[in-house]
Amino acid sequence: MESAEFHNALALLDWQVELGATEAICDAPVNCYELPETLAKPKTQKAAQVAAGTAPPPPQVDPVAEAQRSATAAQDLESLKAALGAFEHCELKRGARNLVFSDGVPGASVMIIGEAPERDEDREGRPFVGRAGQLLDKMLAAIDMGRDHASAPVYITNVLPWRPPQNRDPLPQEIAMMRPFLERHIALAKPQALVIMGNISAQALLGKRGITRLRGTWTECFGLPALPMFHPAYLLRQPAAKRDAWADLLSLKTRIANG
Ligand code: URA
Repeated sequence: MESAEFHNALALLDWQVELGATEAICDAPVNCYELPETLAKPKTQKAAQVAAGTAPPPPQVDPVAEAQRSATAAQDLESLKAALGAFEHCELKRGARNLVFSDGVPGASVMIIGEAPERDEDREGRPFVGRAGQLLDKMLAAIDMGRDHASAPVYITNVLPWRPPQNRDPLPQEIAMMRPFLERHIALAKPQALVIMGNISAQALLGKRGITRLRGTWTECFGLPALPMFHPAYLLRQPAAKRDAWADLLSLKTRIANG
């Protein structure tokens, strides 16, 4: 460029700047908001690892520790029920219609612990409302007790609060996951004695199976006197065992009457 041409061009540019021009406009439009690839925000290390498939696996949650933490935090039965409702680590919850928490009178001297809800309980959200539950009510009435009894009520729950599919036996990991909730449930309900109904409950609470051998002998569970008994569903199938169940009911009645 000739020197005069250069000075003319520079004077023109100065004049435009004085008029307020701040940008040079090219022949082709430029999108100032479009960041070139090279200026794009650098990926975080994690995003880069995910993109490259080298990301470490997410931290493993220990469901039993989670259950313990959640159950311990509950300060009353309502919040324990809410904590169970919010617990997402048990697959049974996804297949169940309702959380089956308890029935009867909290604070009653006797707390009955069954196994798991079946179809009727799942539908109603209350434990022991099906055929086995009706027999349980008759058994309790025979010793002048009951879930709605004015002077001798009982409180009822199950080891599992959700129905297992097709009423299958609970898996050991399901029992382990629900045990902290059950222990807290007992602590908050403050019964004088526990009735452990059936093999699954004996397994969960006493770490033993063999209800035929265990039934009728008082033992201790979480610092409370506990009586293992035949499950009413078993009594429906084996009516001859009702004789033993009757002896156990009388033993319960005597224990409660003697404080
Ligand atoms: N069997 C149980 O152990 N619990 C119920 O609630 C119903 C049937």
